[in-house]
Amino acid sequence: MRGVETLDELRARAEACTRCPLHRGRTRVVFGEGPPDAKVMFVGEGPGYQEDRQGRPFVGDAGKILTQLIEAAGMRREEVYIANVVKCRPPGNRAPEPGEAEACAGYLDGQLHHVNPRIVVALGRIAARRLLGREIAVGKEHGRLYPLGPRRLLVTYHPAACLYGKGVRPLLEEDFRSLGRMVKEVL
Ligand code: URA
Repeated sequence: MRGVETLDELRARAEACTRCPLHRGRTRVVFGEGPPDAKVMFVGEGPGYQEDRQGRPFVGDAGKILTQLIEAAGMRREEVYIANVVKCRPPGNRAPEPGEAEACAGYLDGQLHHVNPRIVVALGRIAARRLLGREIAVGKEHGRLYPLGPRRLLVTYHPAACLYGKGVRPLLEEDFRSLGRMVKEVL
């Protein structure tokens, strides 16, 4: 987003945003949260019911799992930045459409620019697709590291995938263990 000087200014723009139809159904804009100089940034898909009500990312069931995984990787939730591909809740918790992700891209790009994390974690296919700029099969490509400009991108499952398929949790835990090792090595 051109001409935006600070993260607070970017947040203010997002809170007034009407760039895509998702703004019509929102209760709160869920911009993201975390230290403005966090070394690790997690990127989810978009706000769900609880997030839309509270204006904070990952505060529902998937959020509980994410917090546990972050702690298992040896970090505290308060020390990482948490954002989403889209800042407004898609109706019925459907995945954001490519046009909606595109309309919202300036906010995520701005967050990456201002927070400048060393490691970015894409939580699920929608985030990985947005960040890598191509389709991705998370089942095949999770746990891998990709260059993302000056950063490293780790692709993993969306934490909500654990709520639907029992086999996913061990895979997510394994990816977060690698993240914990990487954080120790890189940071
Ligand atoms: N799922 C997401 O992708 N993001 C949230 O903030 C909450 C649930």
